[in-house]
Amino acid sequence: MPLSLYRIFFILVILGFGLTYYWYRVPGSHANYFSVNFLPISNNFYTNNTGRCYIPEWNRVETSSASNSFWKSISRLLWMSLDLSYENNQNYTSIILIGAYVYPEYISITLNSQYMSKQLLYCRYFDCKRKEIQGSEWQGVVFPESVIHCPRRIGAEFVSVSKFKTDGFPTPMRLTFRAFEKPIHDFTICVAPLYGNEPKWIQITEFIEHHKMEIHNQIVNFSNGDIEVKVLQEKYERPFYAWQLIEIQDCHMRAKYHSKWTTFIDIDERIYTQNGNILDFLNSEDNGRIAEIQIPVLNFVKYEDAPEIYNDENQIQKELISMKYDRTTGLTWNASKALIRPEKIGIMSIHYAIALEHGYVSLRADASEKIALRHYRSTQHRENGSNWDEGLVIFENTLPSEFLSELTRRVIEKVKYVYEKVPAICSYIPRVMWESREFPDPCEKMLLTW
Ligand SMILES: *[C@@H]1O[C@H](CO)[C@@H](O)[C@H](O)[C@H]1NC(C)=O
Ligand SMILES: *[C@@H]1O[C@H](CO)[C@@H](O)[C@H](O)[C@H]1NC(C)=O
Ligand SMILES: *[C@@H]1O[C@H](CO)[C@@H](O)[C@H](O)[C@H]1NC(C)=O
Ligand SMILES: *[C@@H]1O[C@H](CO)[C@@H](O)[C@H](O)[C@H]1NC(C)=O
Ligand SMILES: *[C@@H]1O[C@H](CO)[C@@H](O)[C@H](O)[C@H]1NC(C)=O
Repeated sequence: MPLSLYRIFFILVILGFGLTYYWYRVPGSHANYFSVNFLPISNNFYTNNTGRCYIPEWNRVETSSASNSFWKSISRLLWMSLDLSYENNQNYTSIILIGAYVYPEYISITLNSQYMSKQLLYCRYFDCKRKEIQGSEWQGVVFPESVIHCPRRIGAEFVSVSKFKTDGFPTPMRLTFRAFEKPIHDFTICVAPLYGNEPKWIQITEFIEHHKMEIHNQIVNFSNGDIEVKVLQEKYERPFYAWQLIEIQDCHMRAKYHSKWTTFIDIDERIYTQNGNILDFLNSEDNGRIAEIQIPVLNFVKYEDAPEIYNDENQIQKELISMKYDRTTGLTWNASKALIRPEKIGIMSIHYAIALEHGYVSLRADASEKIALRHYRSTQHRENGSNWDEGLVIFENTLPSEFLSELTRRVIEKVKYVYEKVPAICSYIPRVMWESREFPDPCEKMLLTW
């Protein structure tokens, strides 16, 4: 029952409440993804309501183009001429802003369109009161697909886009602050939209707890803002993984100047390093010129669905996905995933970078299991390729028992916190709370809240 799943979001991230609403009530065209940032968050926007717009120091920047270097401009022209980001998947959807990010020298706006690559659009700029800044508009080019880069404008707090200079525009969006000199997070995971009807509550909990163990050796509780949930929704239905293509672009822009490293993985995938720390691995590989490290995949045969609802501790001991499924077809580069430095990548796609900024390189990790993506790949409900394990040789590959027992402990702690509700103790609640409104005694009847 999906209802129980979303309570996890509510605990971990307050935005989850919005997600619950959209997903549960509108089972039409929509998708959601979340990104997880490691290390503390600081910042942010400076607003000053004295009647006039107050322009903080960081926003007194004006740039003349969206590209801050000669090589970047040349690279972009080359990528465009080679059509490296041409999707043209659905040419009749509306254009809505997904995100807007202000970096030190330019602004990027992400769009939900999938047919605009190389087309011209105007960037439009608005002050703190959403009044358009006169004469500020600038004609840019959508590239890569679903992204437009725009120059900075002094005092711009909101942005939008339009086909013509004086056209109407979608509701302006407030810029998300990314004008950091140096990334404030070490690592971000962009999680693809969740697919299908299989209950996800145990996947989500395990995914988050697993990666917390991979990043921090000690127990660290996330604070507010470490997980963001982004709702992607509009009235046009999107086929299959169309939202995922948009998620990649948006989360790439979201991570630039915010997180040193970023990866784009799915809820059924876990990055696992043999020494138990992704950051140690990244630091050991990093020579300053790396834009991307591709990592191999271990596909595990997942032959059953996850349980519908949480019952008790014993159930977790049996159903923990990375414990239950330990039979793999061995290391492969098929559908490998990448760890990237977001500012060094020009065009990102689901599995690897399509274009790197000038002077940077891509490499493959050794296929030695030092680092691998453990993919708990279902043999059921696949659009094409259920029973994918048929005829393949299967090996056992179990996670170390200390890792599994710590993971189990953490997952149990988290799901208990979320699902084991303490019923209202009516003798402690003032009767006036219900009697004044002639509501029933809550110990006899409670409202369903979620
Ligand atoms: C608000 O803006 C005014 C200038 O318009 C400035 O003097 C003042 O310090 C600002 N207040 C805050 C709290 O930033
Ligand atoms: C949209 O795509 C369809 C199918 O390829 C095509 O027939 C149609 O002309 C396109 N419309 C526009 C406005 O480009
Ligand atoms: C994390 O949260 C748990 C449960 O609320 C608490 O017992 C623990 O002390 C916290 N740990 C840290 C390091 O704050
Ligand atoms: C990788 O994919 C190719 C093409 O889909 C397939 O022929 C091959 O068997 C796959 N290899 C592994 C190890 O899964
Ligand atoms: C899956 O793809 C193969 C070709 O790649 C096709 O022959 C087969 O019919 C497809 N199966 C389904 C269930 O769509």
